Amino acid sequence: MREEQIPLLVNAAHAYVGKPMDLVAVDAAHPGILLCRAAQQALNGLLAAIGGVGKILPVSGYRPRSEQEAIYAASLRENGREFTRKYVALPGHSEHETGLAIDLGENKPPIDFIRPAFPDGGICGQFKARAAEFGFILRYPADKEAVTGIAHEPWHFRYVGPEHAQAMAREGLTLEEYVARLLKTAR
Ligand code: DAL
Ligand code: ZN
Repeated sequence: MREEQIPLLVNAAHAYVGKPMDLVAVDAAHPGILLCRAAQQALNGLLAAIGGVGKILPVSGYRPRSEQEAIYAASLRENGREFTRKYVALPGHSEHETGLAIDLGENKPPIDFIRPAFPDGGICGQFKARAAEFGFILRYPADKEAVTGIAHEPWHFRYVGPEHAQAMAREGLTLEEYVARLLKTAR
């Protein structure tokens, strides 16, 4: 199946003005963490494929704008401006508001809410290695802060569907770079 649509770009320059549809609980153990159904199904498929259920935990999925505002304000207070700029998107500009992004943490408490541990090796490494096959991209890679506007976040995955995710992984492109390329070829 071809996915013709250009993936939704949400960042400092592009506010999210939509409303997520079909939000469901990520799994029975986390009824308060919601995702759009397509992303939820893909995530569970990927976790099952690598034997990661219970080893990798959902930390934060869909956030209404009001929750992003609360997180942003709390982080400013507790962590300061520089940290917040690097790790918390401006309210109205967070991928979490779309229901298509999930923060994941290795099941090794305590799990930090803003920066959960998601190491390169082990089960988390396996997750990363197969993420694109299931439609997820590591949205904020190392060395791409100038492009994404956000520091390296090994825990934050964005669902874009397998076709786009595999193309981005193959070519080492961030969503910003990939969307720019698609728009150029569409012209
Ligand atoms: N941590 C990401 C950038 C967010 O707040 O959406
Ligand atoms: Zn996140």
